[in-house]
Amino acid sequence: MSLLKHLSCHLIFTLPVFIGAESVNEYYTTRWARCIYSSPDLSDMEYIDSYYFNKYLFTEFNSTLGRFVGFGEYGMKNAELWNNSTFLQRERANVDAGCRFNIRTKETAVRFKTLKPKVILSLVKQAGGRHPSVLMCSAYEFYPQHIKVSWLRDGKLMTSEVTATMEMANGDWCYQIHSELEYTPKSGEKISCMVEHASSTQPMIYDWDPSIPESENNKIAIGASGLVLGIITAAAGLVYYKKKLAGRILVPN
Ligand SMILES: *[C@@H]1O[C@H](CO)[C@@H](O)[C@H](O)[C@H]1NC(C)=O
Ligand SMILES: *[C@@H]1O[C@H](CO)[C@@H](O)[C@H](O)[C@H]1NC(C)=O
Repeated sequence: MSLLKHLSCHLIFTLPVFIGAESVNEYYTTRWARCIYSSPDLSDMEYIDSYYFNKYLFTEFNSTLGRFVGFGEYGMKNAELWNNSTFLQRERANVDAGCRFNIRTKETAVRFKTLKPKVILSLVKQAGGRHPSVLMCSAYEFYPQHIKVSWLRDGKLMTSEVTATMEMANGDWCYQIHSELEYTPKSGEKISCMVEHASSTQPMIYDWDPSIPESENNKIAIGASGLVLGIITAAAGLVYYKKKLAGRILVPN
Protein backbone atom coordinates (compact mmCIF):
# COMPACT_ATOMS: atom_id res chain seq x y z
CA MET A 1 0.00 0.00 0.00
CA SER A 2 2.79 2.40 0.93
CA LEU A 3 4.32 1.71 -2.45
CA LEU A 4 1.13 2.72 -4.22
CA LYS A 5 0.94 5.96 -2.23
CA HIS A 6 4.49 6.71 -3.15
CA LEU A 7 3.72 5.92 -6.78
CA SER A 8 0.68 8.15 -6.80
CA CYS A 9 2.69 11.13 -5.46
CA HIS A 10 5.43 10.39 -7.85
CA LEU A 11 3.08 10.43 -10.82
CA ILE A 12 1.50 13.72 -9.82
CA PHE A 13 4.97 15.23 -9.66
CA THR A 14 5.92 13.97 -13.09
CA LEU A 15 2.76 15.12 -14.85
CA PRO A 16 4.40 17.99 -16.74
CA VAL A 17 7.07 15.68 -18.13
CA PHE A 18 6.20 14.68 -21.68
CA ILE A 19 7.98 11.35 -21.78
CA GLY A 20 9.85 10.04 -18.79
CA ALA A 21 11.00 6.93 -17.01
CA GLU A 22 12.24 6.94 -13.44
CA SER A 23 13.03 4.30 -10.91
CA VAL A 24 11.52 4.16 -7.43
CA ASN A 25 13.47 1.59 -5.43
CA GLU A 26 13.97 -0.46 -8.58
CA TYR A 27 10.34 -0.14 -9.63
CA TYR A 28 9.72 1.73 -12.84
CA THR A 29 7.02 4.16 -13.83
CA THR A 30 7.11 4.86 -17.51
CA ARG A 31 5.19 7.27 -19.65
CA TRP A 32 4.96 6.53 -23.35
CA ALA A 33 3.28 9.20 -25.49
CA ARG A 34 2.73 8.69 -29.22
CA CYS A 35 1.05 10.31 -32.19
CA ILE A 36 -0.56 7.86 -34.61
CA TYR A 37 -1.79 8.92 -38.05
CA SER A 38 -1.74 7.90 -41.69
CA SER A 39 -3.47 10.76 -43.49
CA PRO A 40 -1.07 13.31 -45.08
CA ASP A 41 -3.25 16.20 -43.82
CA LEU A 42 -2.98 14.81 -40.24
CA SER A 43 -6.79 14.79 -39.93
CA ASP A 44 -6.86 11.28 -38.45
CA MET A 45 -4.33 12.11 -35.73
CA GLU A 46 -4.69 10.07 -32.55
CA TYR A 47 -2.73 10.89 -29.42
CA ILE A 48 -2.13 8.03 -26.97
CA ASP A 49 -0.39 8.64 -23.65
CA SER A 50 0.24 5.46 -21.67
CA TYR A 51 1.37 5.12 -18.06
CA TYR A 52 3.06 1.95 -16.92
CA PHE A 53 4.11 0.60 -13.58
CA ASN A 54 6.89 -1.80 -14.50
CA LYS A 55 5.31 -3.53 -17.53
CA TYR A 56 1.76 -3.03 -16.32
CA LEU A 57 -0.34 -0.45 -18.17
CA PHE A 58 -2.55 1.22 -15.56
CA THR A 59 -3.81 4.46 -17.13
CA GLU A 60 -4.01 5.62 -20.71
CA PHE A 61 -5.20 8.79 -22.42
CA ASN A 62 -6.76 8.21 -25.83
CA SER A 63 -7.59 11.37 -27.79
CA THR A 64 -10.30 9.61 -29.80
CA LEU A 65 -12.13 8.91 -26.55
CA GLY A 66 -11.05 12.31 -25.20
CA ARG A 67 -10.37 10.97 -21.69
CA PHE A 68 -8.24 8.68 -19.55
CA VAL A 69 -9.07 5.00 -19.21
CA GLY A 70 -7.89 3.04 -16.19
CA PHE A 71 -6.94 -0.60 -15.80
CA GLY A 72 -7.10 -2.37 -12.48
CA GLU A 73 -8.30 -0.89 -9.20
CA TYR A 74 -5.56 1.70 -8.85
CA GLY A 75 -5.53 2.56 -12.56
CA MET A 76 -9.27 3.22 -12.60
CA LYS A 77 -9.07 5.50 -9.55
CA ASN A 78 -6.16 7.31 -11.12
CA ALA A 79 -8.03 7.75 -14.40
CA GLU A 80 -11.02 9.25 -12.57
CA LEU A 81 -8.74 11.66 -10.72
CA TRP A 82 -7.01 12.79 -13.91
CA ASN A 83 -10.29 13.04 -15.81
CA ASN A 84 -11.40 15.59 -13.20
CA SER A 85 -8.21 17.61 -13.32
CA THR A 86 -6.85 20.32 -15.62
CA PHE A 87 -4.42 17.66 -16.84
CA LEU A 88 -7.28 16.32 -19.00
CA GLN A 89 -7.52 19.67 -20.86
CA ARG A 90 -3.78 19.67 -21.48
CA GLU A 91 -3.88 16.12 -22.79
CA ARG A 92 -6.76 17.04 -25.13
CA ALA A 93 -4.75 20.03 -26.36
CA ASN A 94 -1.75 17.77 -27.08
CA VAL A 95 -3.38 16.39 -30.25
CA ASP A 96 -2.76 19.81 -31.80
CA ALA A 97 -0.04 21.38 -29.67
CA GLY A 98 2.05 18.24 -29.32
CA CYS A 99 1.29 15.93 -32.23
CA ARG A 100 0.18 18.09 -35.17
CA PHE A 101 2.57 20.94 -34.42
CA ASN A 102 5.67 18.73 -34.03
CA ILE A 103 4.82 16.48 -36.94
CA ARG A 104 4.28 19.41 -39.31
CA THR A 105 7.79 20.68 -38.59
CA LYS A 106 9.35 17.21 -38.65
CA GLU A 107 7.59 16.08 -41.80
CA THR A 108 9.21 18.78 -43.87
CA ALA A 109 12.57 17.67 -42.47
CA VAL A 110 12.13 13.92 -42.82
CA ARG A 111 9.01 12.60 -44.47
CA PHE A 112 9.20 14.52 -47.73
CA LYS A 113 13.00 14.34 -48.06
CA THR A 114 14.28 12.10 -50.81
CA LEU A 115 17.76 10.97 -51.76
CA LYS A 116 18.43 9.87 -55.31
CA PRO A 117 19.99 6.40 -55.59
CA LYS A 118 23.53 5.97 -56.88
CA VAL A 119 23.19 3.21 -59.46
CA ILE A 120 26.01 0.88 -60.52
CA LEU A 121 25.72 -1.78 -63.23
CA SER A 122 28.25 -4.58 -63.07
CA LEU A 123 28.99 -7.92 -64.67
CA VAL A 124 28.84 -10.70 -62.10
CA LYS A 125 29.43 -13.62 -64.47
CA GLN A 126 30.50 -13.46 -68.07
CA ALA A 127 28.80 -15.70 -70.63
CA GLY A 128 30.96 -18.66 -71.57
CA GLY A 129 29.95 -21.82 -73.43
CA ARG A 130 26.37 -22.53 -72.52
CA HIS A 131 26.43 -20.30 -69.43
CA PRO A 132 24.43 -17.08 -69.59
CA SER A 133 25.77 -13.75 -68.34
CA VAL A 134 24.76 -12.38 -64.99
CA LEU A 135 24.42 -8.61 -64.64
CA MET A 136 23.85 -6.83 -61.37
CA CYS A 137 22.12 -3.50 -60.92
CA SER A 138 22.86 -2.00 -57.51
CA ALA A 139 21.20 1.11 -56.14
CA TYR A 140 22.85 2.70 -53.12
CA GLU A 141 22.06 5.42 -50.59
CA PHE A 142 18.48 6.19 -51.46
CA TYR A 143 15.61 7.39 -49.29
CA PRO A 144 12.76 6.61 -48.75
CA GLN A 145 12.78 2.83 -48.79
CA HIS A 146 10.24 2.15 -51.54
CA ILE A 147 11.94 1.54 -54.89
CA LYS A 148 11.41 -0.49 -58.06
CA VAL A 149 14.31 -1.95 -60.04
CA SER A 150 13.58 -3.65 -63.36
CA TRP A 151 15.42 -4.72 -66.50
CA LEU A 152 14.86 -3.74 -70.14
CA ARG A 153 16.03 -5.48 -73.31
CA ASP A 154 15.87 -2.96 -76.17
CA GLY A 155 13.41 -0.93 -74.11
CA LYS A 156 11.12 -3.89 -73.36
CA LEU A 157 10.55 -5.08 -69.82
CA MET A 158 12.20 -8.42 -68.98
CA THR A 159 10.47 -10.49 -66.36
CA SER A 160 12.15 -13.89 -66.29
CA GLU A 161 15.58 -14.66 -64.83
CA VAL A 162 15.50 -11.68 -62.50
CA THR A 163 16.39 -12.07 -58.83
CA ALA A 164 16.39 -9.17 -56.43
CA THR A 165 17.16 -8.58 -52.80
CA MET A 166 14.86 -6.66 -50.51
CA GLU A 167 15.67 -3.06 -49.71
CA MET A 168 18.34 -3.22 -47.04
CA ALA A 169 18.71 -0.54 -44.38
CA ASN A 170 22.20 0.92 -44.10
CA GLY A 171 21.47 2.07 -40.56
CA ASP A 172 21.81 5.74 -41.55
CA TRP A 173 18.24 6.20 -42.88
CA CYS A 174 19.44 5.18 -46.37
CA TYR A 175 18.76 1.94 -48.18
CA GLN A 176 20.38 -0.23 -50.85
CA ILE A 177 19.03 -2.87 -53.19
CA HIS A 178 20.54 -5.32 -55.69
CA SER A 179 18.90 -6.95 -58.68
CA GLU A 180 20.49 -9.67 -60.81
CA LEU A 181 19.64 -10.52 -64.38
CA GLU A 182 20.63 -13.79 -66.02
CA TYR A 183 20.64 -13.43 -69.78
CA THR A 184 22.26 -14.72 -72.94
CA PRO A 185 23.89 -11.80 -74.73
CA LYS A 186 23.01 -11.22 -78.36
CA SER A 187 24.98 -8.76 -80.46
CA GLY A 188 23.37 -5.40 -81.09
CA GLU A 189 20.87 -5.56 -78.25
CA LYS A 190 20.70 -3.04 -75.45
CA ILE A 191 20.28 -4.12 -71.84
CA SER A 192 19.25 -1.44 -69.34
CA CYS A 193 18.40 -1.23 -65.69
CA MET A 194 15.37 0.92 -64.86
CA VAL A 195 15.04 2.44 -61.41
CA GLU A 196 11.81 4.06 -60.24
CA HIS A 197 11.97 6.03 -57.03
CA ALA A 198 10.26 8.98 -55.30
CA SER A 199 13.42 11.09 -55.82
CA SER A 200 12.70 11.32 -59.55
CA THR A 201 9.48 11.95 -61.44
CA GLN A 202 10.86 10.01 -64.43
CA PRO A 203 12.11 6.41 -64.39
CA MET A 204 15.93 6.46 -64.32
CA ILE A 205 17.43 4.27 -67.04
CA TYR A 206 21.02 3.04 -66.99
CA ASP A 207 22.36 1.26 -70.10
CA TRP A 208 24.82 -1.58 -69.78
CA ASP A 209 27.96 -0.91 -71.81
CA PRO A 210 29.40 -4.28 -72.78
CA SER A 211 32.36 -2.75 -74.71
CA ILE A 212 34.75 -3.10 -71.77
CA PRO A 213 33.99 -6.28 -69.83
CA GLU A 214 34.69 -6.17 -66.11
CA SER A 215 37.67 -8.55 -66.38
CA GLU A 216 39.36 -6.19 -68.85
CA ASN A 217 38.71 -3.31 -66.47
CA ASN A 218 40.33 -5.34 -63.70
CA LYS A 219 43.39 -6.08 -65.86
CA ILE A 220 43.79 -2.38 -66.63
CA ALA A 221 43.44 -1.51 -62.94
CA ILE A 222 46.02 -4.12 -61.86
CA GLY A 223 48.44 -2.97 -64.59
CA ALA A 224 48.02 0.68 -63.62
CA SER A 225 48.57 0.06 -59.91
CA GLY A 226 51.66 -2.03 -60.74
CA LEU A 227 53.03 0.88 -62.76
CA VAL A 228 52.36 3.38 -59.93
CA LEU A 229 54.03 1.07 -57.40
CA GLY A 230 57.05 0.73 -59.70
CA ILE A 231 57.40 4.50 -60.08
CA ILE A 232 57.17 5.03 -56.29
CA THR A 233 59.80 2.35 -55.61
CA ALA A 234 62.13 3.80 -58.23
CA ALA A 235 61.70 7.35 -56.87
CA ALA A 236 62.33 6.21 -53.30
CA GLY A 237 65.44 4.34 -54.42
CA LEU A 238 66.74 7.40 -56.25
CA VAL A 239 66.19 9.68 -53.22
CA TYR A 240 67.92 7.19 -50.92
CA TYR A 241 70.85 6.84 -53.32
CA LYS A 242 71.24 10.64 -53.66
CA LYS A 243 71.11 11.16 -49.87
CA LYS A 244 73.77 8.53 -49.33
CA LEU A 245 75.94 10.08 -52.00
CA ALA A 246 75.47 13.60 -50.52
CA GLY A 247 76.26 12.29 -47.00
CA ARG A 248 79.53 10.84 -48.20
CA ILE A 249 80.67 14.06 -49.83
CA LEU A 250 79.59 16.46 -47.00
CA VAL A 251 80.84 14.45 -44.03
CA PRO A 252 84.13 12.89 -44.94
CA ASN A 253 85.70 10.61 -42.32
C1 LIG B 1 -8.50 4.77 -28.98
O1 LIG B 1 -9.89 4.70 -28.88
C2 LIG B 1 -10.57 4.40 -30.07
C3 LIG B 1 -12.06 4.50 -29.84
O2 LIG B 1 -12.44 3.57 -28.85
C4 LIG B 1 -10.14 3.05 -30.59
O3 LIG B 1 -10.76 2.76 -31.81
C5 LIG B 1 -8.63 3.04 -30.76
O4 LIG B 1 -8.19 1.75 -31.14
C6 LIG B 1 -7.94 3.44 -29.46
N1 LIG B 1 -6.51 3.51 -29.71
C7 LIG B 1 -5.59 2.77 -29.07
C8 LIG B 1 -4.17 2.93 -29.50
O5 LIG B 1 -5.89 1.99 -28.22
C1 LIG C 1 -14.97 13.61 -10.56
O1 LIG C 1 -16.07 14.39 -10.95
C2 LIG C 1 -17.32 13.73 -10.81
C3 LIG C 1 -18.43 14.60 -11.40
O2 LIG C 1 -18.15 15.96 -11.27
C4 LIG C 1 -17.57 13.39 -9.34
O3 LIG C 1 -18.80 12.70 -9.19
C5 LIG C 1 -16.44 12.52 -8.83
O4 LIG C 1 -16.57 12.29 -7.43
C6 LIG C 1 -15.10 13.19 -9.10
N1 LIG C 1 -14.06 12.24 -8.77
C7 LIG C 1 -12.91 12.60 -8.13
C8 LIG C 1 -11.97 11.47 -7.85
O5 LIG C 1 -12.67 13.73 -7.83
